Amino acid sequence: MTRRRILLKKLPVRFLRLLRQIGQLADSQGLPLHLVGGVVRDQLLKRRNWDLDLTVDGDGPAFARVVARNLHAGVVVYDRFATARLTLPDGTKIDIASTRRESYAEPAALPDVQPASLAEDLYRRDFTINAMALRLNAEQWGELYDPYGGERDLRARKLRVLHDRSFIDDPTRIFRAVRFAQRFGFRFEHATARLLEEAARSNQIARLSGPRLRNEILLLLAEPNPSRTVAELVRLNLLRFLHPRLRFGKGVAQVMERVPMAIGWWTRSFTPPLIETGVAMLMALLHESTMAVVDGVISRLMLSGEQAQKVRWAGRPLCSIARRLASAKLISPSSLHRLLIGLPNETHLLVLAQAMAEKDRAGLARTKKRLKVFVTQLRSHKPLLRGRDLMEIGLKSGPRLGKVLGLVADAQLDGLIKTKPQALVLARRLARNIHDGSSLNHR
Ligand code: CTP
Repeated sequence: MTRRRILLKKLPVRFLRLLRQIGQLADSQGLPLHLVGGVVRDQLLKRRNWDLDLTVDGDGPAFARVVARNLHAGVVVYDRFATARLTLPDGTKIDIASTRRESYAEPAALPDVQPASLAEDLYRRDFTINAMALRLNAEQWGELYDPYGGERDLRARKLRVLHDRSFIDDPTRIFRAVRFAQRFGFRFEHATARLLEEAARSNQIARLSGPRLRNEILLLLAEPNPSRTVAELVRLNLLRFLHPRLRFGKGVAQVMERVPMAIGWWTRSFTPPLIETGVAMLMALLHESTMAVVDGVISRLMLSGEQAQKVRWAGRPLCSIARRLASAKLISPSSLHRLLIGLPNETHLLVLAQAMAEKDRAGLARTKKRLKVFVTQLRSHKPLLRGRDLMEIGLKSGPRLGKVLGLVADAQLDGLIKTKPQALVLARRLARNIHDGSSLNHR
């Protein structure tokens, strides 16, 4: 049977060249080689996806070592899963696996794997649209292998599981189902919808480890239209797995919808913010929750220390910062600096998204202006004086020194002093007037 050939148009030329090289190496070893999974789906949908997942009918890790030698790549082998990851000198990553079948000792556990045919390898996957393969050997280059009707389902815009136990074996697929349905605007095929609802009602997700659940939630929240995605989680009553008291009201939805706009404004105004979109969205989702709920979610998802620190801001009165930024009352540069410095970028975006959700255009304009002043002028503020300078003029380290330093920095931010000699004159004056425990302010 001749199979349809796919042109791999959406891959950059350097990837095509690379795949041809690897295809030739597979030929030289007599191994059938395929590109599999999401990248095949996305080729057919004409979407970008540069995740190169390859399978060989044979020893994947051994073949990966051959490829690594020939392409001067680094290789890490995960024997338990019969997979290997190559890192090429330019940083490109490629996964190579043996075609395999998986069995689950118990639901939600990581699978045990045994060698199997490509058809079986595809059958263990989540949805038909993700269970297609493209041949990479030279003679059959680009041939589509689609034993379960993935292309048909892509055309019909349907998500269909391959077997009835799919969501039970791997409950992360419940979130993947929601994520793909939203991303592509697909519906669930009839039986899949029923299985999904059954799986959502069961408690399988509770058995997932924190990192696995975190990975799914952050991926899901990083998709476009996260508020629609979360609404679908609510329909399936899945938020309970993050925290039983987590609620998704109109206010939260409105702010979530505006986070991408806030990121867009930020990117147009400055450079793209260094943020984790999923974390920013999680903060938006939690911003009306109590600290107890926020902490509960942080520990259930086993967020990293840095992520947890950011997300904890969601439980604080960010509204009061948003209100001050939007208010018509004057804010001095030093107060603005104090208000915003030390907050993670995700918090700035969240405050902006909150302002965007309000129907106060003047307030939004003020918020944007103040954020601009902060980012372009105040954030990288370099103080004229350091503690050392104050010690040189006779101050001892301690709270008094800290207070003088802070007040001098404020005066500099507010444009009252511009040079180091001016700063030292002010510091001396302040030092004379401030005694330990005093609350004297120079303004
Ligand atoms: N897969 C699966 N079940 C999972 C995770 C992955 O069957 N729980 C399979 C699917 O065939 C999937 C492939 O492994 O296409 C690669 O997984 P991943 O890279 O997570 O997904 P993609 O489909 O590439 O999705 P995305 O576009 O979001 O990266």
